Amino acid sequence: MRMKGKTVLVTGAGSGIGRAVSLLFAAEGASVVAADVSEHVHATAERIAASGGRAAAVIGDVGSRESCLEMVEAASERYGGLQALVHAAAISRKGTVATMKEEDWLDVQNVNLNSAFYLGQAAVPLLSVKGGAIVFIASQLGLVGTRNSIAYTAAKGAIVNMARSMALDHAQDGIRVNSLCPGPVDTPFLHASFMRESDPESARALSLGKIPIGRFGTPLEIANAALFLASDEASFVTGATLTVDGGYTAL
Ligand SMILES: NC(=O)c1ccc[n+]([C@@H]2O[C@H](COP(=O)([O-])OP(=O)(O)OC[C@H]3O[C@@H](n4cnc5c(N)ncnc54)[C@H](O)[C@@H]3O)[C@@H](O)[C@H]2O)c1
Repeated sequence: MRMKGKTVLVTGAGSGIGRAVSLLFAAEGASVVAADVSEHVHATAERIAASGGRAAAVIGDVGSRESCLEMVEAASERYGGLQALVHAAAISRKGTVATMKEEDWLDVQNVNLNSAFYLGQAAVPLLSVKGGAIVFIASQLGLVGTRNSIAYTAAKGAIVNMARSMALDHAQDGIRVNSLCPGPVDTPFLHASFMRESDPESARALSLGKIPIGRFGTPLEIANAALFLASDEASFVTGATLTVDGGYTAL
């Protein structure tokens, strides 16, 4: 029960890593505000309730400042405060600096990066009441480059360094801020990225070939790392970048 008595806001909670984080944190005693732009977030909250946990679903777009405020307010209204934020919502669009439309670039920066600013602004006052933790789900592609993904890699790299600066700014407020960089993880997000390629099967094989452990990660493997970072077990960990990537960035 490593999150007993704590309230966590999880974005991207309708699928993949965000859903796994929501289920795991609830099993560890957290009250979960599960937020997503998709209706699938209701299923996450229902699964938590069915196993005796506490969860509220909020539909909202993390690219909107108002929605981010509503997500954070839901935590204080429903459960009286906020002790952890796990920001997992993100999108991806293919493109190089030469081919990407400005609209796609802006969409990615808004959903993947501006959201961290909006959520951080709304959450810091609540997190500082009793102390708390922020975990930004970045990506191994925030640490190394890749082809044809200029907007995504820029946003993820920015999140990693934003986490470090936020850690410095809010250490004295009792708020720890860390980024978690998954490698390729078996979720709809990863499958969609293969489907956008002209040959999805060879894109999948290429991705697999970059992982020394020889398989994709599971959402639970990422959730376990997020739980560590958000829990008191990581009480001396702030400004850190934790890679959980099967060795991808060690190559
Ligand atoms: N799956 C991977 O291989 C992988 C690798 C590295 C990093 N990541 C990161 O992990 C995080 C979770 O990805 P996932 O693989 O679980 O993806 P996923 O597609 O399974 O889940 C992402 C969720 O975010 C939600 N979302 C998208 N845009 C939103 C918005 N504007 N507002 C609110 N919710 C929104 C989606 O509806 C979805 O439920 C992302 O930040 C992603 O960049 C994933």
